[in-house]
Amino acid sequence: LWLKYDPLTDRAIVKHYQSSITSILVDGNSETIDVIKRELAMATSGLLQSKIPFINRIEKNGTLVIGNINASSIASLQFDRSLLQKSEEAYLIKNMIVKGKRCIVITSRSDRGVLYGVFYFIRLLQTQQRIDGRDVVNSPAIANRILNHWDNLDRTVERGYAGFSLWDWHRLPAYVDQRYHDYARANSSIGINGTVLTNVNANAQVLTPFYLEKVKALADVFRPYGIKVYLTARFSAPMEIGGLSTADPSEKNVQQWWNDKVKEIYRHVPDFGGFLVKANSEGQPGPQNYKRTHADGANMLADALAPFGGIVMWRAFVYDNEVPVDRTKQAYNEFKPLDGLFRKNVIVQVKNGPLDFQPREPFHPLFGAMEKTPLMMEFQLTQEYLGFATHLAFLSPMWEECLKSKTFAHDKPSTVAEIISDESRQYQSTAIAGVANIGNDRNWCGHPFAQSNWYAFGRLAWDPFSNSSQIADEWARMTFSNDQNTIQNIKSMMLPSRELVVSYMTPLGLHHLMGWNHHYGPAPWIKDKPRVDWTSVYYHRADSMGIGFNRTSTGSNALEQYQQPVRDLYESLDKCPDELLLWFHHVSWNHKMTSGRTLWEEMCYKYQAGVIGVNNMKTLWDKTRAQVDEERYNAVKQLLEIQYQEAVWWRDACLLYFQTFSKKPMYGDFKPAH
Ligand code: GCU
Repeated sequence: LWLKYDPLTDRAIVKHYQSSITSILVDGNSETIDVIKRELAMATSGLLQSKIPFINRIEKNGTLVIGNINASSIASLQFDRSLLQKSEEAYLIKNMIVKGKRCIVITSRSDRGVLYGVFYFIRLLQTQQRIDGRDVVNSPAIANRILNHWDNLDRTVERGYAGFSLWDWHRLPAYVDQRYHDYARANSSIGINGTVLTNVNANAQVLTPFYLEKVKALADVFRPYGIKVYLTARFSAPMEIGGLSTADPSEKNVQQWWNDKVKEIYRHVPDFGGFLVKANSEGQPGPQNYKRTHADGANMLADALAPFGGIVMWRAFVYDNEVPVDRTKQAYNEFKPLDGLFRKNVIVQVKNGPLDFQPREPFHPLFGAMEKTPLMMEFQLTQEYLGFATHLAFLSPMWEECLKSKTFAHDKPSTVAEIISDESRQYQSTAIAGVANIGNDRNWCGHPFAQSNWYAFGRLAWDPFSNSSQIADEWARMTFSNDQNTIQNIKSMMLPSRELVVSYMTPLGLHHLMGWNHHYGPAPWIKDKPRVDWTSVYYHRADSMGIGFNRTSTGSNALEQYQQPVRDLYESLDKCPDELLLWFHHVSWNHKMTSGRTLWEEMCYKYQAGVIGVNNMKTLWDKTRAQVDEERYNAVKQLLEIQYQEAVWWRDACLLYFQTFSKKPMYGDFKPAH
C-alpha cells in the first residue's frame, strides 16, 4: 500500500532528515505507544536507510519528542493546549527548544491522536517535504470515520472485486493473521477510526457467542490503532438466533433480547462502536414488517446501546417496487417525516446520491432536509458501477463534487461537507462511511490504483474540505515514486479518470445502464425484470422524441425534494448543467446543447471522448515505465488495455441501442466496432 517505506532517493532531503532526526524519544506506556515505536522504526529505517536510536533522555539536537500532553517529557512544555481542544484525536507537531536542544514535538490529548501525528510526520518524509520550521495543528472535521465491509461470514464479499474477505472467520479467534495488523496500520495512517465487519445484508449469526469470540479477537488487534469495531444487526435476529416469535420493536421481550445481546457484545468488546442497520430495503427485514417506523426500529437498538456509548447507523437506502413512486424519491419520503423522532445516538446514513452509487448523481436531497437528525455520508469505494477493480477510476473528484454541493439548507449555501461535519451539532454525532474495496488479493484492492480510493476516502473523511489533486499527489508519491514527471503523469491519469468513466458509461446525467444484477457492462436494453426499478429502460426512457427521466414538476417532481435555488436551477432546461441534464429532463434528440451540438451529437461526442481519454491514460502510463516496478507496471498496462476495449464496448453498445430511437447517423470520427 502507501506504507512501503522504500528508500528515499533525493539525497539533499535525506541529508536534511538525517540532521533533523538524530534520535527518537517516545514517552508513554500503552499498546498504542508500542505501535508508534514499531511504525517509526520501520519508517525511518526504510526511508532513510539508517537506524535512528530510540532514547529516554534528550541529549542531542534533532530529537523527536513524542507522547501525549500528560507524558512527563511533554507536560512541562510551553505551547497553546487549546489548539488540541476540539477532539481527542487532534495533534500538534511543533519545532521547539527542549532542554536546550532543537527538537520536534509530536503530541495530542490521547495516544491515538499522537499516532495520527506520527503518521502525518512519516507522510512528510515519504513525500520528501522539509520538516524544519513547519508547525502543524490538525484535527478531524468528522468524529466517526468508518469503513463498511460488505463481507459475508462465508468470506464472499458483496460487490467485492479484490478476492475474498480479509476476515478468516474459520481460523479466528486462535489464528490472527498479520494482515489484520497491516489493515489497521493502513487505516490508522489515514485517520479511519471504525470498521463495520459485516455486510449490510446481514447474517444474524455474527451476533452469536461463537462469532463474538472472533469479533473480539479482531477488535483486540484494531484497538491500539484507534479503530473501533461495529457490526451489522439483522433486524430479525431475535427470531433467527433468539428463538422469539417476533422482532416487533414495541414488544417488551424483543427489547429485552436486544438489551441482553448488547450487554453480551460489550462483555466481549468493551469499546464496541455500535450497529449499522439496513432495514426494509431490498427484502431485508425491518420495523415496517410490524407497521412500525424506521424511528421505532432505530430507537429500540439505540436504547440498548446508549448505556455503553454505542451508536446506531440507520441506513436511508430504502426503496420498494410496490411503492409507485420514482425510486429516487423514496428515502426522502420515508425519512423526512421522522425528523426529530430519532434518539440522540442514532445517525441516519445516506448514500451520496438518491439512487445507488452511479458514476454521477446529484447529491441526495436528504442532505439539508433533516433539521433535527444527524446525517452521515455513505460513499462507495468498491466500484460497483464504475468498472469494478478492472477499470481505473480515482473516485476522490466524485466525492469532492458531492461534498462541495450547495444544499441551501437553512437559507445558506450550506455544502454537504458542512452538513455532515456540522459543529453546531454535537461533534460526536458526525460520521462518514465508505463501502470498502478491500479483499484478500495480494494488492488488497484488486487494481493497483484502487488503493487510491481507500486512501482518498480516509483523507476526505478526516478533512472533507480537502482537494483531490493534493490527495492524488500524496498517494502517488507514497505508492509509486517521488519523481516529478512520474507524479505528473500519474496524476494526469487519475484526476480525469472518473469523468472518463462517466463519459463512456453514462454521460449527460444518464444512469443505471449497467447489466442487470452484476452491474458491469452496458445493457441499456434491460426490461422485464422482477422489479421495474431493476430495468434500465425505467431510467433512460428513450423514445422516438428523446431521452431522459423527467423529474421536474411536469414529471416525477423529485425536484420538489431540493431546496431553492437548487430546485429552480435543475428545473430549467436551459440552466440545468449538462452533466445532470438527462437525470432531470426528458430531452429531445434535436435539443441544442451549450456546445452548439444537438443532444444526439453530444451523446456521440461524449461516448467517444471517454474512449479517447482512456487511450490517453495508456500513453501516460507507458511514460512511467522507468520509474515503476515491472510487476505493477505490467498489471496496470494490461488493465488499461481491458478498460480501453470496454470503453469502446460501452460506446458502441449504448450508441447503437439509442440510435434505434434517435434514428440519426453516428456523429464524430469513429465507427462502432461491434
Ligand atoms: C446496491 C447493491 C447491493 C447492496 C445495496 C445496499 O443495491 O447492488 O448489493 O446490498 O446497494 O447498499 O444495500
